[in-house]
Parts: sequence; structure tokens; C-alpha cells
Amino acid sequence: MEAHLYEWANLLIRWLHITVGIAWIGASFYFNWLENHLQREGQKPPGVAGTLWAIHGGGFYYLQKYQVAPEQLPERLHWFKWEAYYTWMSGFLLLFVVYYLNAGTNLIDPSVAELSPLAASLIGISVLILSWLVYDGLCRSPLGRRPALLAAVGFILLVALAWGLSQIFSGRGAYIHVGAAIGTCMVANVFFVIIPGQRAMVDAMTAGREPDAARGLAGAQRSRHNNYLTLPVLFIMISNHFPGTYGSHWNWLILATLMAASMVIRHYFNIRHLPRPAKIALPLAGAAGLVVLIVLTKPSGPAPVEANLPPVPFSQVQSIVQERCAGCHAARPDFAGFATPPKGVRLDTPAQIRAHKTQIGQLAVTTSVMPPGNITRITDDERALLARWLQQGAEHNSENSQTE
Ligand code: HEC
Repeated sequence: MEAHLYEWANLLIRWLHITVGIAWIGASFYFNWLENHLQREGQKPPGVAGTLWAIHGGGFYYLQKYQVAPEQLPERLHWFKWEAYYTWMSGFLLLFVVYYLNAGTNLIDPSVAELSPLAASLIGISVLILSWLVYDGLCRSPLGRRPALLAAVGFILLVALAWGLSQIFSGRGAYIHVGAAIGTCMVANVFFVIIPGQRAMVDAMTAGREPDAARGLAGAQRSRHNNYLTLPVLFIMISNHFPGTYGSHWNWLILATLMAASMVIRHYFNIRHLPRPAKIALPLAGAAGLVVLIVLTKPSGPAPVEANLPPVPFSQVQSIVQERCAGCHAARPDFAGFATPPKGVRLDTPAQIRAHKTQIGQLAVTTSVMPPGNITRITDDERALLARWLQQGAEHNSENSQTE
């Protein structure tokens, strides 16, 4: 029952999280697009920086952007902030439910570091807070006035964070905490800098004073950072479907490459509308980085099996899988916290085991993603045995495999 409720909590919070996340990032992409497509030349009303016509959903829209602010504050002014706040709140709740309530399976990997669930969760939360303090401090320091240098330092710190986390958490736990740290900085940018800056401008206007354009600029810097951080965070949100990335020994380096490639590609989309010639080399460099990554992450596979070793009896494979996997991957899992087999993958019959042989090879032999956090203590010898069985064809061993 508990596992059933847990499953629904996971589903509903995740659904909410992506919905509000889309609303937030969608609006952010839209305003970036607006900024890049404003018509800045030609006749414009005084104080207006640019205008834009658009057609959408069967209606014509006309927008104008002010250099600083309109002469008079409009009666109704729409703010964009709750999308960001709800994204963070639902994201934190999801982190809590998936990783802190289930630290043993999802966050801790004893082969990386022996941590108690409480210690792991506290480290996770501290990482979020510290990341913001360090990042915000850097933006306010003299480095904040040198955007390119700040970006380089920020990126190096991000990679250092990914490396550090990969030394204490499971690969999956490390990835999600890099994502959560970035997401926290992005939302804190909205909460602590962008919105207060806008509030100060509006207050100044209400009091009949000139709004301070510098407040708007500080917000613009943070907004720009959020723009570059979006693609890395989106990848991390989907990364738990790709054990080949977080399950690798070089998981932090793979993450660094993906983040760098996505930021370079993002940069191209930011500047391609500028009058100077578009730098097509940028997306090409990003794509080249991805190609190198695809080549380098090709699984090397287990060491070749010596020809004269006897075939592994299927019964031996079945007993390993029964003991180490089927507690969760069964029609009715025994393992606490699972109401249904995870991802619908059942490994409790010979036919099911053979049907999933490729995935078993990928998740339990090439990478050590399964069992999560090696919670059922599969041994290296057992993994080697599975490897041998797979290399010998995974079919022709026992009568079992004939009859099922
Ligand atoms: C403690 C429970 C548990 C044990 C034990 C376990 N798994 Fe899993 N397994 C999971 C969970 C949870 C997922 C879903 C991961 C996710 O969220 O993507 C999963 C997913 C999978 C998948 C599907 C992956 C995908 O993305 O489609 C396969 C295949 C798999 N496990 C194989 C194994 C094998 C092989 C073993 C034994 C060596 C094993 N598991 C042991 C919990 C377990």
C-alpha cells in the first residue's frame, strides 16, 4: 500500500514539475526570442526600443519594448515568477520523494561511498544552498563585470561539482544534484535578483522617480545565465533514462561534455540574429563534441571469454538473477518500496530473463547501474558469470532455455 502511494506521489509531483517547468522555460524562451527578433530600426514611438508583429492561434499581436520603462505605469502589469517558484518547489519535493526517501536505492552507492541516508540527504541539501551562495558571490564580485571570465570560472566550478558528487553519490544521484544545484541557482536568480530589481523599478515609478536602469541590467545578467543553464538542466532531468551516461566510470566528464556542447549550441541561437555574421562554427563545434562523446562512450564490453571455458548453465544465471534482481523485478516485488516491477521489467521467469538479456548486459555487466546502489550485493564473480553467459550466446545452455 505504502509503495502504491509512493508511486502515485512520484507520478503526480513529476507531472506537476514538468508542467510548471515547461510554463517557466517556455516563457523564458519566448522572451529571448522576442528580444532577438524585435524590429529596432525605423519609426517608433518615443522611448520605445523595438516593436514586433506576430500571428498566433488565429490572432494578430503587436508588441513594443521600452528602452527603460513607459512614461506611466500601466494599470495591469503581468509578472512572470510563479512558474519559476513552482518549478523549484515541485522539483525539490520530487528530489525528496525519489532520492531522500529512497536514498538507499537511488542516492547511495556503497561501492562509491558508505553513507547513511540522513547524511546523504543532508549533503544533497547543503550542495544546493552552497552552490547558490558561491555563484551569487561570484556574480557580485568584480568577476561579475567580466562575463566571459565569469562563464569560464562558473563552468569549471560546475564540472568540479559534478566530479565531487560522483565521488560520494551514485551516478544517478550525482547527476540529479548537479541539475538541482543549477535549477536552484536559476530560480534564486529570479527570486533574489530579477524580481526585486523589477520591483524596485516599479516602486520608483510609483513614487514618481526615474527607474534605475542598473537594476534592470543586474536582472538581465542573471537572466542571461539562466538562458545558458537551461539545456544542461533539461538534459539532467531526462538523464535517469540513460544509464550509459550516469552509470559510466567517467560520468562527470560525460556530463561536462554534454553541458559544454549544449551551451555552445545555445550561444549560437542567441547570436545568430545579430548583424555580425552568424558563427556557424559554434553549433559545429558543439556537434563535434557530441560525436566524440558518442565514440568514446562505446562500451568496451567484458573481456573476451576463454574458448575452453564450459558453457554457463542457465540455472546458474537464473539463480543469480533471482537472488539479486527479482526482489524488485517480479510481478509482485518483495522489495520494500516497490508495488510493481520498476519500468515494467520482470526478471522472474527464464523467458523474461532471456528477453531482457541485452539490457541485463548493459545495466549489470557493462555498467554497474543495476542493482541500484548494489543494494542486493551482487558480486564481481556473479557479474563475470553473467558476462560469460551473454558472450556464449545466452541461449544454448540448458534445457530450461529450450522449454521456456
Ligand atoms: C532495489 C530494486 C532493484 C533491484 C534489486 C534491481 N533493480 Fe533494476 N530497476 C530498479 C529501478 C528502480 C529501475 C528504474 C530506474 C529508473 O527510474 O529509470 C530499474 C530498471 C531496470 C531496467 C530497465 C531500465 C530501463 O531504463 O528501461 C532493467 C533492464 C533492470 N532494472 C535490470 C536489473 C537487473 C539485471 C538487476 C539485477 C542484476 C536489477 N535490475 C536489480 C530497481 C531494481
